[in-house]
Amino acid sequence: MKKLLLFLMVILVAIQFIPFNVPADIPDKEGEALKAPQEVEAILKRSCYDCHSNHTRFPWYSSIAPASFFTKMHVKEGREHLNFSRWNSYDDEKKLKYLQKIPKAIKSKMPLPSYLLIHKDAKLSEDDKKVLSNWASEAAFDME
Ligand code: HEC
Repeated sequence: MKKLLLFLMVILVAIQFIPFNVPADIPDKEGEALKAPQEVEAILKRSCYDCHSNHTRFPWYSSIAPASFFTKMHVKEGREHLNFSRWNSYDDEKKLKYLQKIPKAIKSKMPLPSYLLIHKDAKLSEDDKKVLSNWASEAAFDME
């Protein structure tokens, strides 16, 4: 038992050396960030920007392994899939695709349930969902 504990301790220390390498703040390029009504932006900032923007608020424990592995995966993938800080660098086809996906995404899996476990303030209320869905549908409609 003692040996097992020692072994686990060594592993826990060793994995801290795996680099985290996810910048919290990448400066926005001029004009690239999404501009949306204030009410919409406030919800996106609170519930989505940690993974879908260049501005992530990392709590202290997020860079400690093994939590850091999840943080890194979520933020890297989230930014790759949809980055609101780079919104205006997307062509119309891509913008439309994301706008159409947003209502569905917030109904099913966004923000990710594992993230909501430790970020209770990011949970979307029914009103938040309506505001986001309406905004996305209207913006998509305007583009079609
Ligand atoms: C904890 C990180 C995290 C948060 C917070 C988060 N997402 Fe995501 N999101 C991801 C990841 C990772 C993916 C890609 C994998 C997947 O689709 O499950 C994704 C995918 C998506 C997609 C699909 C993109 C595509 O390419 O198909 C949409 C749309 C989306 N998210 C919207 C949102 C919205 C809107 C919010 C806020 C209400 C949000 N997400 C919050 C991590 C996050």
